[in-house]
Amino acid sequence: MLSESAWNRGAVRRQLIADANAHFGYSSALVIDESAFAKKGDMSAGVARQWNGRLGKTDNSQVGVFAAVVRDRVAALVEGELYVPEDWFADAARCQTAGIPEGVEFCTKGEMALNMIHRLRREGLRFSHVVTEETPKGLAARHFKDLIEERSGGRIHVQVFPNGRLYGDHDEIQALKLGAVDLVAPSLSKFGRIGLPEFELFDLPFVFDNLNAVRRITLGPLGQRLLDGLPRQGLVGLGYFDNGFKQMSANRPLLEPRDFVNLRMRVQASRVIAAQMRALGARPVTLAFSETRRALAAGVVDGTENPISNFYTQKMHEVQSDLSLTEHGYLGYAVVTNERLWRHLKSTDRELIHQALREALAFANQSADTQNQQALQALRQAGTTRIHSLNQEQRTRLRRAVQAVQQQLADRIGNGWIKALQQVLSQG
Ligand code: SIN
Repeated sequence: MLSESAWNRGAVRRQLIADANAHFGYSSALVIDESAFAKKGDMSAGVARQWNGRLGKTDNSQVGVFAAVVRDRVAALVEGELYVPEDWFADAARCQTAGIPEGVEFCTKGEMALNMIHRLRREGLRFSHVVTEETPKGLAARHFKDLIEERSGGRIHVQVFPNGRLYGDHDEIQALKLGAVDLVAPSLSKFGRIGLPEFELFDLPFVFDNLNAVRRITLGPLGQRLLDGLPRQGLVGLGYFDNGFKQMSANRPLLEPRDFVNLRMRVQASRVIAAQMRALGARPVTLAFSETRRALAAGVVDGTENPISNFYTQKMHEVQSDLSLTEHGYLGYAVVTNERLWRHLKSTDRELIHQALREALAFANQSADTQNQQALQALRQAGTTRIHSLNQEQRTRLRRAVQAVQQQLADRIGNGWIKALQQVLSQG
């Protein structure tokens, strides 16, 4: 059993690092919170078991709460410090259950912010995303990098990690909160899952007639009010940008509600999108973006929805015979950063970053439509997938089939938010 004296910061860190090395070849370790641990799953289980043994505990999950090992690149970013959320430490009973003796010193949130700043000076801003470089998001990130590096005279460097190379959509926000990356741009559909369900109003089917209608929200006071809620989760929202309208794919045309019946449709982690699929008679299956193509190829799911640029750049056309141009819903993004990092930046750097982002996002909005058109053209040339346009009656029938979703999800999104949305849209 681990002696109490061994629970000083250095020893704990050294031991975790040694364990991490022995088990996984990772060279650093970091204490992370319960939810993150749960997502790391197997990767940390071996280490958790070892710590269990030392602490004489039989319940792996207790140890896992504070002894999870993360990848080398994550831990390096917080300079090997141990971090446990402060509120967690304030809970003496919880600490006791987990076997953490009193007086153990861990890195506080303030220290963590300083670590982030040091790391930022050394390595620059890290922008992680899950799509390819040729998509609207990939181009926006690239454009931001070019702008900020030029305007700061090379002082602020940006590393862009595309295609889920660092994190997938299940862990990128967690990584941002822990200071492992500095900027992410999740689709708006992924904010509900982290305690901001009001963002799911963007997922309501057939609610936006065109991109101008979307812009009245994203560039107006309602969009700002939504971003103002992000600090609740330790995040700051720096702006929105488009991908575009989503289309439906499967191995058959999807033109009428009856075409969807019993299909397993991959969806993002949004209750609104899941309800939309159910309303059409399909079975929603929530999967990370990076897993979608493989799941389609293996027949784990039958179809999916996405703008064409995402569909094409993930090569989903190689595994789906039909794409139906339903344009039934919108997919856009919010660029977010870590609130502590943002607060600790010099105000001149904050303004530099914000301005470069504003311009990169405006550029993305101008080019997203072109990206989707080019992807459609490339898809036609590839000839692997039949492309179907819907006539007005078919769109009307799809719209009617999903009409009840707004009412069903009003409590989750919040009636006030829905009313505010309707008010802005009715003014157009
Ligand atoms: C993205 O565009 O970031 C991914 C969207 C999805 O998960 O479908």
